[in-house]
Amino acid sequence: MNLAKRLNIFGEYAFFTLAKKKADVEKTSGRKVLDLSIGSPDFPPSSIYINKLKEFFAEKNSHIYPGYGPILEFTQGLRNWYKKRFDVDLEKNELFPLLGGKDGVSHLALTLLDTGDEVLVPDPGYPAFSGPPTLIGATPVFYNLTETSNFKINFNELKKKISNKTKFIWVNFPANPTGQVVDINDLEQIINFVKKNNIWLVYDNAYSEITFDEFVAPSILQIEGAKDVAVEIGSFSKTFSFAGYRMGWIVGNKEIISALSKVKSQFDSGLSRPLQKLGAFALNNNDEKWHRTMITSYEKRRNIIIKNLKKIGLTAEKTKGSLYLWVKIPDHFKDSQEFSFELLEKKQILLAPGTVFGKNGKRYVRVSICANINGIERHFN
Ligand SMILES: Cc1ncc(COP(=O)(O)O)c(C=O)c1O
Repeated sequence: MNLAKRLNIFGEYAFFTLAKKKADVEKTSGRKVLDLSIGSPDFPPSSIYINKLKEFFAEKNSHIYPGYGPILEFTQGLRNWYKKRFDVDLEKNELFPLLGGKDGVSHLALTLLDTGDEVLVPDPGYPAFSGPPTLIGATPVFYNLTETSNFKINFNELKKKISNKTKFIWVNFPANPTGQVVDINDLEQIINFVKKNNIWLVYDNAYSEITFDEFVAPSILQIEGAKDVAVEIGSFSKTFSFAGYRMGWIVGNKEIISALSKVKSQFDSGLSRPLQKLGAFALNNNDEKWHRTMITSYEKRRNIIIKNLKKIGLTAEKTKGSLYLWVKIPDHFKDSQEFSFELLEKKQILLAPGTVFGKNGKRYVRVSICANINGIERHFN
């Protein structure tokens, strides 16, 4: 009896390995590790939303299958929010609920790629952009987001990565892991590029509401004609700190959305009614005071972490968006894994080795600003 051969394509999930290493170090050192490796939004959701969620769960029929697509409230909530936030009009067939952004990320590979096809993936980037294509026998072709291009897309390089097998490109700003953001002009260039090269664009805007220092992130759908070629993924995990509820959305090109819903109907049975109602409520009744407090909490932690990183010789730029700092390691270390493991052993501080996010992470670590930083001074001194 054998398991599927495709399991051999993968090693152990990097964060799983890190968690084991962390447990070992805690055991041998007898000290709790300061874990700045994971990007799980820890700021508690607004109590207004949570109270509503209790109500929605208590409603009659909240337990029944929700149906595959959006319920009316979800459609209305998302349409209102896109209009208010981005001045973008969405038709009913231009949106769909997801069981978290990652649900869309993984199932879009099945929707858009056949075996042998190619997809352009940022390096460094969110690991789920490359895993699912590999699982189905398609090829991720990595494009560079390096310091030389200010961690933005270098279109001259990107041109060279296009082949007749390229089906689509993943683009993610505010970016995991670099924290880089883009403006409307950048987005216009991206749309021009995909149109010229006749490929689809999937824009991951999971961190659109996690921005700092007055920066406001745009939506790809603000660009004229974007719906002809693009879809955008959004996440309630970051926007409203609902990470554990598993809620997200996809908006934009209706052909892709209809195809994705067909694929998903083979794998899941929709986002539960109480959660769709919660999503709609949160989108319609944005608790701005709560949102400001959350951003201030991340911002404060970002600044404290940057100050402490200095003590061990690391210089971090103030990130404008996302929940991470992308920090260069000192020259004398072989690579980010060696640096990260040494810091873990010596100071019981865990930073994610940049190689988890691609080859270009060899000389970087990713530092999360949504971590518990109690006792940070003791660890860094
Ligand atoms: C770039 C990016 N996209 C999507 C996601 C998925 O978020 P969720 O599935 O929690 O909505 C993440 C999560 O870390 C991410 O970093």
